[in-house]
Amino acid sequence: MKGSAMKHPSLLPLNDGNDIPTIGFGTFDLGGNGQTTAAVTCALKAGYRSFDCARYYGNEREVGQALAQTDLLREDLFITTKVWNDRQLDGTVRQSIEESLYDLGLDVLDLLLVHWPVEGKFIDTWKVFEQAQSEHLVRSIGVSNFTAEHLDQLMAASNVPPAVNQVERSPYMQDDQTLDFCKKHGIVVEAWSPLGRGGCLDDPVITGIAADHEATAAQVVLAWHLQQGVVPLPRSKNPQRIAQNIQPLKKKLSKDEMRAISALNRNEPVVKGVDPLHFAPVLNHLSSHFETTT
Ligand code: A2P
Repeated sequence: MKGSAMKHPSLLPLNDGNDIPTIGFGTFDLGGNGQTTAAVTCALKAGYRSFDCARYYGNEREVGQALAQTDLLREDLFITTKVWNDRQLDGTVRQSIEESLYDLGLDVLDLLLVHWPVEGKFIDTWKVFEQAQSEHLVRSIGVSNFTAEHLDQLMAASNVPPAVNQVERSPYMQDDQTLDFCKKHGIVVEAWSPLGRGGCLDDPVITGIAADHEATAAQVVLAWHLQQGVVPLPRSKNPQRIAQNIQPLKKKLSKDEMRAISALNRNEPVVKGVDPLHFAPVLNHLSSHFETTT
């Protein structure tokens, strides 16, 4: 990270006075042995300025290596990470934040998220986040995979409302109740797996709209997120797709096109069996799923 005049392509305001880039690069499951560093380096060159990491992904060092090598200024970058469930359960949230900072090679995080709402723990975790924010270890604090019910509980018990809620969202998986709640409360929604892990990209409705716009199906899906005010976090290991995914459509999706994509909802999550309202019983299931996919 050195000197450059480049600025974020476009920003959304957060409820705490900070801004967030309207699109970010997801870093989950990009591979080890330099593959994550290579993908993040490629994304930086393609114009991404926001990078979504997590302690759980086990790749903060590789992301940190890419950040250390870029010529961009620190203030041009927006780096997010998350605290995983084990650290909420054993009360080592503060240590997890410090480990993330060390591995990423940063003095301050732009955004820190509670990875999942571990029942009976997430409010204690949030108190540690509020303290870390007051000590300027992190600029903005937020949550991930929270429903309206979790958000209500959290906001009733805390001083700082979450700036962001990162949830799974794609044309086949739309939880509009959570989106509407977040919009009403000024919480920016980020979408993980915004392309449904590629599963919706062959849908004829999406490919038809893509043909009309002379764009890829992924660009159409990402435009659908952006036009709803949702921050998508697409990920790819492929340099061509990394670059394509950040290129906007030449013209906006029409209201009819937006409606046609929204009508594709199947409430079909990419990871089956995850129920955030009853998270604790599925904790082992989720961890074993991730272990088999990372
Ligand atoms: P690849 O790394 O080979 O590009 P999501 O962001 O919804 O989790 O989806 C990630 C998956 O979608 C990855 O398997 C990635 O594969 C694939 N992907 C990313 N961008 C595109 C694209 N533009 N077209 C097709 N597949 C894509």
